[in-house]
Amino acid sequence: MAARTGRRSTRARGAALEFRRRPCARDIPALARLVAATGVFNPTELAVAREILEERLAHGRSSGYSFVLAERDGTLVGYTAWGPIPLTRGSYDLYWIAVDPSAQGLGVGRALLAETERDVARHGGGRIYIETSGRPAYERTRRFYLAAGYAEVARLEDFYAVGDDKVIYRKVVPAAPRRGKRGGRAPAR
Ligand SMILES: CC(C)(COP(=O)(O)OP(=O)(O)OC[C@H]1O[C@@H](n2cnc3c(N)ncnc32)[C@H](O)[C@@H]1OP(=O)(O)O)[C@@H](O)C(=O)NCCC(=O)NCCS
Repeated sequence: MAARTGRRSTRARGAALEFRRRPCARDIPALARLVAATGVFNPTELAVAREILEERLAHGRSSGYSFVLAERDGTLVGYTAWGPIPLTRGSYDLYWIAVDPSAQGLGVGRALLAETERDVARHGGGRIYIETSGRPAYERTRRFYLAAGYAEVARLEDFYAVGDDKVIYRKVVPAAPRRGKRGGRAPAR
């Protein structure tokens, strides 16, 4: 674990995972492959997933997109993309979460959400919003959010299409305690 490089490691049900915050060009094909492999996103969504990463690579943090990339043995097995919602104070969107099918159900998604929440806490905390579909195909995904402590706060009927609601989840993340001054090391004299 090395906080300075933005790398952390953890174990998700036995699998050693490394987390990286700084995306690079080689992540483009790996991410495109992973998102397509989940089989739940349509071609437009696949293009958007890629564009978000390209925006981040082109404009850095000012793109408004932050990433948590999970790797096992150097291979990308999942990621989240998140960022502050423009014109709000302390509201964040989880734009994307995906785990490679070969690694699903092993706790990788849960660990990615926890890492993302840690980042939001470090940014001063706030509210994380997640939008998903109300279709039966997303039933497990919705259970996943509920199990991770996200509450359903709104449901927009027929939003994506007739019979396809938008379901909005939210979790309140407290700010991480500030380091330094009180409780920190005494400054060197
Ligand atoms: C949803 C997703 C990110 C969860 O990641 P994950 O690593 O499989 O989840 P975890 O192993 O941490 O947690 C598993 C839990 O999530 C739920 N879950 C959701 N989708 C699942 C899947 N495809 N396989 C297994 N469990 C899944 C289960 O309820 C499971 O609960 P359990 O452990 O009590 O059985 C992942 O399955 C995925 O990428 N799905 C396709 C893409 C997607 O739907 N993204 C969200 C779009 S809004």
